[in-house]
Formats: sequence, C-alpha cells, structure tokens
Amino acid sequence: MLLDKALNSDTNLLEVDNLQVAFHTPDGTVTAVNNLNFTLGQGETLGIVGESGSGKSQTAFALMGLLAKNGNIQGEARFEGDNILSLSDKAMNRIRSKDIAMIFQDPMTSLNPYMKVGEQLIEVLTLHKGMKKAEAFEASVKMLDAVKMPEARKRMAMYPHEFSGGMRQRVMIAMALLCQPKLLIADEPTTALDVTVQAQILTLLNELKSDFNTSIIMITHDLGVVAGLCDKVLVMYAGQTMEYGTAEDIFYHPTHPYTQGLLKAIPRLDSDSGLLATIPGNPPNLLNLPAGCPFEARCEFARAQCLTQAPRLDTFASGQRAACHKPTEGWAV
Ligand SMILES: Nc1ncnc2c1ncn2[C@@H]1O[C@H](COP(=O)(O)OP(=O)(O)O)[C@@H](O)[C@H]1O
Ligand SMILES: [Mg+2]
Repeated sequence: MLLDKALNSDTNLLEVDNLQVAFHTPDGTVTAVNNLNFTLGQGETLGIVGESGSGKSQTAFALMGLLAKNGNIQGEARFEGDNILSLSDKAMNRIRSKDIAMIFQDPMTSLNPYMKVGEQLIEVLTLHKGMKKAEAFEASVKMLDAVKMPEARKRMAMYPHEFSGGMRQRVMIAMALLCQPKLLIADEPTTALDVTVQAQILTLLNELKSDFNTSIIMITHDLGVVAGLCDKVLVMYAGQTMEYGTAEDIFYHPTHPYTQGLLKAIPRLDSDSGLLATIPGNPPNLLNLPAGCPFEARCEFARAQCLTQAPRLDTFASGQRAACHKPTEGWAV
C-alpha cells in the first residue's frame, strides 16, 4: 500500500477492505459497490468521484450503517481498528454523529422544517454530549460563527425555510461538526448550489479541515470539486475502483481513460462556449455487468481484450492504482 504509506497514514483512521454492497431485487442482484479498498489517515481528505449511479452514496451509507433493507454488505471497514460493518444498531448509533457524521446533498432531508435551526443544533449537543441547554446554545452559536454564518445568534431563532440554500448547507456542516467527529462524510454537499456558493462552501470545508483536523470523505460527480480540497482521490465506475491515487496523480498523471474523461468534463468558469465535454454513452446495467472492463463500451482505447477480460487493479511504483489493460507508457493521454 505505497499510496497510503506515502501520505503520512501510519495511523489510519479508516481502512476499507474489499467492501461489497449488493441489493437483492425482484430482477436479480444489483452489485452497487464491488471490491472497494481505500484508507483514510487522520486529518486527510479523500475524494470519491464518479458519475451518477457509480456506487458513491451506497459506499457512504454502508459505512454509516444506513443501507436500505435489501442491501447486503461484505468486507471490512475498520474505524480506529474496529470493524464498524459488524456493529449492532445500538453501537453504530453511538458512533454516528459522535465519531462519524454525514452531510447530504439536500439539507432539507436532514433538517426539520418545523423546528428552529437553533433548537435542532442544541438538540444534537444535549442528546450526544449531555450538555445543558444554555451551554449547548452558546456552543451552537460558536459553531455557526465557525461556518461563517452572518448574525449567528439571531439566526438561531429562524426556521430552515428562512435560509438560502448555501446558508442551509452551512447549518448542516455546523450540525455535523458540533460533536467534533473524527470523520466527516460529505455526499455531494455542493451539488444543489450555484457555482459561487459552491466555491464558498468548499473554501469553508478547507478551513474547517485545518481548524478541526477532521478526516473527510468528499463524494462528488465533479472532479473539479476535489481539486484543492482532497489529498487523494478514488475514481469509481459501476461500483468499482477505476483509479486511486494522490490528488496530484489524478490531476497531473491520470492513467485511466475514465479519469481522463472526467477531467475533461470539469466545468470551467473561463470556458467561452459553456459546453462541457461529456463522456458519450451510459454506465452498464449493474444487474448484468459485462465480463470484461465495465467502461469498455465507452472507452476510446478499447480493444478485444477489454471486452472479455476484467482488468486487475494494478499498483504502479508511485502507489497509484488503475484498473485498465492500457499499458502505462506509450499511450496518448
Ligand atoms: N435499495 C436499492 N435496491 C436496489 N438498487 C439500489 C438500491 N439503492 C441503490 N441502488 C442502486 O445502486 C447503484 C449505486 O447507487 P448510488 O451509490 O446511489 O450511486 P451514486 O454514485 O450516484 O451515489 C444505483 O444503480 C442504484 O440504483
Ligand atoms: Mg449519490
């Protein structure tokens, strides 16, 4: 595991080994996450990137113990050495929000529209930290300040619908950080926001990361979001790892045609045409995955071998990993 050692991860907070998530459906088994391996060190940020349906959210739900009832998990996820995939609901409840917190794309799924924002923040602290109400109030104001909420004290008495989308997402980040979790999983936290607000939230996450030394898993379909925030990046497609490396590897030396396609699809503010290069075609049906490389049908470099033989996830000397038959040298990038 050169990549992981290279990134000061002697003491890994999270180690995920061969994670598999399968759903039993009337049509057959949907393999949403297939043999995923990654590690996350203390204070590190990992980006999990891939198009819609690639298994990013199910990876997060599996780690949080929030999978749908028809889901089935295999593999291990060791958090501070303990496999959290085998914990009871009760034990997992204790870990959620105290040690591991999650923020979702749409804050309204997690905020109660009928409760003042302040009450919701206070409740987290009285419930999980056993704080008295007055103490919890002050701690909540402080956290709203930390996420750069203007007039934080006044905002405590407001309802979620009185906040803009960006401000609601700040509330969610504040709520997630209240108990000072060791790991924050952010699932497309800026996707619903316009680009300027998105940039503000990403700057905020970057600042909080250093202030609180929280380890972060940032899930997104947009490689642009992970630039400048993530230490390493895992590129997923059809539930599988296509490429895994340091942010530098992924941005400057991408080897997988899928990673290269995602890089071309990063929205650019300076682009004249406003047109994005998208990767033509669609991901494969997870009920009926192809025998070879899942990306074969959309890959401009595909050859006969790719149709019949699934590529191994090879590790290069630098520690970067890629699952592609394409040799690493002599191919046009
Ligand atoms: N309860 C379920 N039953 C069957 N399939 C599911 C279930 N939940 C998710 N899936 C499938 O798992 C795949 C991966 O989903 P997801 O992790 O949400 O993708 P994304 O990368 O967009 O977050 C999708 O094809 C989705 O349809
Ligand atoms: Mg998702």
